[in-house]
Amino acid sequence: MADPLAALRQDRSRAREHGDANAELCWLATVTVDRQPRVRTLVLRDVDDGLALFINATSAKGRDLAAQPNCQVATWYPSLQRQWRLEVRAEPLSRALLTRHWQRRPRSSQVMDHLYGGEFPQSSPLTDPDDLRRAHGELDDELGANPEPPAAALALGLTVLRAECLQIHPADRLHDRWAFVRTGDGWTRQALVP
Ligand SMILES: Cc1cc2nc3c(=O)[nH]c(=O)nc-3n(C[C@H](O)[C@H](O)[C@H](O)COP(=O)(O)O)c2cc1C
Repeated sequence: MADPLAALRQDRSRAREHGDANAELCWLATVTVDRQPRVRTLVLRDVDDGLALFINATSAKGRDLAAQPNCQVATWYPSLQRQWRLEVRAEPLSRALLTRHWQRRPRSSQVMDHLYGGEFPQSSPLTDPDDLRRAHGELDDELGANPEPPAAALALGLTVLRAECLQIHPADRLHDRWAFVRTGDGWTRQALVP
């Protein structure tokens, strides 16, 4: 295992083949501007040759990442008994790329993305959930068949700065843990105490 990104790509593909419920997911950890940790589940997407997250800039994580784009992404594939932890820099990808992928999102998510940019910023307090349901229905009628993504919809490309892999083995065998650090065009690999 010399290239952690190639290995992760292969793991995701194997996890899909196993029907692993976590195959498409990751956990994104950010810090708030007052240095509080926050973690949440996101879909981890393959975009061209890299990895990306699709979020809305109005959300709490959007604010965290605007102030501090360095963050951590973790995955765990029970079918492979393997964890990845990635130290990444998350930065917006081009509008053209976002638009291409956004058009394939479920209609309800597209409508939500538009609502976030207006009266209902994501992660903000909601006085009455029925207000949102009503607004969602109205906007769904108004938006037309192929809406453009709103300005606040973001595709964040992930530049992986450091990666760590933990392979769990049965109880009678030591686990394997490897760290990968970028060196020029390649990676150096270091075993760690698991
Ligand atoms: C299985 C699953 C997948 C999710 N995928 C995404 C996603 O791709 N993008 C996203 O913004 N939120 C996604 N969410 C919702 C986030 O976990 C989170 O609740 C939301 O983005 C608000 O987070 P924030 O307040 O920390 O910004 C997903 C949640 C689950 C349970």
